[in-house]
Amino acid sequence: MIFLITLSIIKADTGGFVGHSAVHPDMMAAARHAMDRAVRSELLIDGHVASCGDDVSLIMTHRYGADSQLIHSFAWDTFQTTTGVARELGLYGAGQDLLSDAFSGNLRGMGPGYAELEFDERPSEPVVCFLADKTEPGAWNYPLYKMFADPFNTAGLVIDAKMHAGFVFEVYDLFEEKWICFDCPAELYDMLMYIGAPARYVVHSVRSKTLGETAAATSTQRLSLIAGKYVGKDDPVMIVRAQSGLPALGEVLEPFAFPFTVGGSMRGSHHAPFMPVSVGHAHPARFDGPPRVVALGFQIHDGRLVGPRDLFADPSFDEARHQANLAMDYLRRHGPFEPHRLPLEDLEYTTMPQIQARIANRWTPLPSPPVPATAGRPASAGAAKS
Ligand code: F6R
Ligand code: MG
Ligand code: MG
Repeated sequence: MIFLITLSIIKADTGGFVGHSAVHPDMMAAARHAMDRAVRSELLIDGHVASCGDDVSLIMTHRYGADSQLIHSFAWDTFQTTTGVARELGLYGAGQDLLSDAFSGNLRGMGPGYAELEFDERPSEPVVCFLADKTEPGAWNYPLYKMFADPFNTAGLVIDAKMHAGFVFEVYDLFEEKWICFDCPAELYDMLMYIGAPARYVVHSVRSKTLGETAAATSTQRLSLIAGKYVGKDDPVMIVRAQSGLPALGEVLEPFAFPFTVGGSMRGSHHAPFMPVSVGHAHPARFDGPPRVVALGFQIHDGRLVGPRDLFADPSFDEARHQANLAMDYLRRHGPFEPHRLPLEDLEYTTMPQIQARIANRWTPLPSPPVPATAGRPASAGAAKS
């Protein structure tokens, strides 16, 4: 009999301790209490509460599929509860991600982010839940490309018969609200043209061509254009299933051995290295960064979450952390200059409209270029030797 289960990670920033750096232990306790009750009432098969930076993640297994009203409304209520705790303690930005006053069906466009995957549980089902803070969903483009399309990362693409045919990537255009599938490796170069621009094009899911199974899902939420500015790019989460014809656990983690840069960090407006850390170190400090990623490994068995294992709490990622600190030093020294500061159109905070309005009448057209002295002479006359 097919035993379809859904793994959902639903996350929200409902208040920071201190500033935007972490979640207060009392908020975590309140979320765990709600989760325990939901398991006991059999809404959920199992659940685990985790955090990365100032975001609470509810990691849940259940039988209701993606976008379930029951599951989303449970998450919404839990975030209301953690917001209440944050308010009582005067924590920073209490209820920050709860953009609406009331829940209406599911969480789309309401602030919290979510990654969900429904699948037929394999005899042994290893999954990794990635949680990130101080960056955006496009941060998963690089590691997903490495895991599922780069043979220098994933040996299985070359030497595992179940992986050799490749994977299909579903990519969203966040600005124009459309999506496309790229069949890789055949369409790899086409795909890279898009996903190399992660502020706009974001991998939403990846499917194995041989197994027909979805292997990865990210929290790519649609952006809303509000007052001429896209909002809703949020600290992302991702689910990746591993082994048996999918990337092995070590191939899933390998991309993070290089601390590639992502958009985010201070005021969501800077490039900074993505630092893989243990749960205990997932608290962005320096310049509200470097952006952090934690990897929680579970074996799912009869829908139960056996784990987690804190997968980046390992010395093999020490060098990535060291390089991230060096890269942070290098980028920080650019101060308000690109490429540390994001291009004008990607800034989360900007004073540009006010500045433009204030100094608009001081901009003067440059004088027209003088007519070159050589005008009218044959092209060869006076040409400089090079
Ligand atoms: C970035 C982030 C922080 C804040 C920064 C300023 O995603 O959350 O870097 O943008 O700390 O926060 P406010 O404006 O709340 O003082
Ligand atoms: Mg915050
Ligand atoms: Mg956050």
